[in-house]
Amino acid sequence: MTASRETGSELTAQAIDSLAGCPDPRLRELLSGLIRHLHQFAVETSLTEAEWLAGVHFLTAVGQISSDRRQEFILLSDTLGLSMLVDLINHGGGNDVTESTVLGPFYVPDSPWRANGDAITGDLGPTPLLVSGHVREVTGHAIPGAVVDVWQNAANRLYAVQDEHQAPDNLRGRFRAGPDGAFAFRTVRPVDYPIPDDGPVGRMLAATGRHPWRPAHVHLIVSAEGHERVTTHIFDAQSAYLGSDVVFGVKPSLVRTFTEHDPAVETSPPGITGRWLTVDVDVVLRSSAEESRG
Ligand code: BEZ
Ligand code: FE
Repeated sequence: MTASRETGSELTAQAIDSLAGCPDPRLRELLSGLIRHLHQFAVETSLTEAEWLAGVHFLTAVGQISSDRRQEFILLSDTLGLSMLVDLINHGGGNDVTESTVLGPFYVPDSPWRANGDAITGDLGPTPLLVSGHVREVTGHAIPGAVVDVWQNAANRLYAVQDEHQAPDNLRGRFRAGPDGAFAFRTVRPVDYPIPDDGPVGRMLAATGRHPWRPAHVHLIVSAEGHERVTTHIFDAQSAYLGSDVVFGVKPSLVRTFTEHDPAVETSPPGITGRWLTVDVDVVLRSSAEESRG
């Protein structure tokens, strides 16, 4: 029998009740929450049919431009702040470990293994950046053998995976921390860059008066057996976009000042002739035992 309904809230209740036979309780919880909030959104905004259809067309375009090489839905989630909210829910709480941030679409697994101290590019440019740090536990103990997987963009703003003129392994690499948890690599200064904005997400940004820029950063994924992996960034404190990252990925604890060095006043590191930059980052991982205790 069709239930009669007089009001929107009766319709909402009917839609939620339709899930009563769902055998998976978590799926039932997620879908009933989604229905409740979607209905509430439509009521709150007095959504018109034309607006509803525009939304359907927008999401269709997001799907149509997505492929093995482009994930416009994640980009949409990133630019609406949903990705960072999910990050906060799952990795928030506690300043004792290195904070996480977005993975982004330019991560390519299986980067080449490189020796500690090596460069991740064949061309360090006029002012190399020397990154060094230690991977340790909350207790301060080193995590020997931790894996530090890094990638970043070039001076032309592009990641190797976006740019046929760069070697596929340019500006990415994996390092294994030494017995004292130390790791180090040489690179170039990352630069601010716009996220891919030639699709529906770019049109949404333009329509809402938003810019597509991310502040300059180096990406890191740091992992070690028995520890919770962290996906994070080192942000350049000099970037003009720290306060308006299009994907809301900046956390103050991840911002670092790159120190400038002059060979006229300091002894140059081996192989460096002109000016250089340094940044030191300690990465603190939570042990899996701590994680399971909550
Ligand atoms: C990135 O940092 O590579 C990135 C993150 C989110 C969206 C686009 C790019
Ligand atoms: Fe990035």
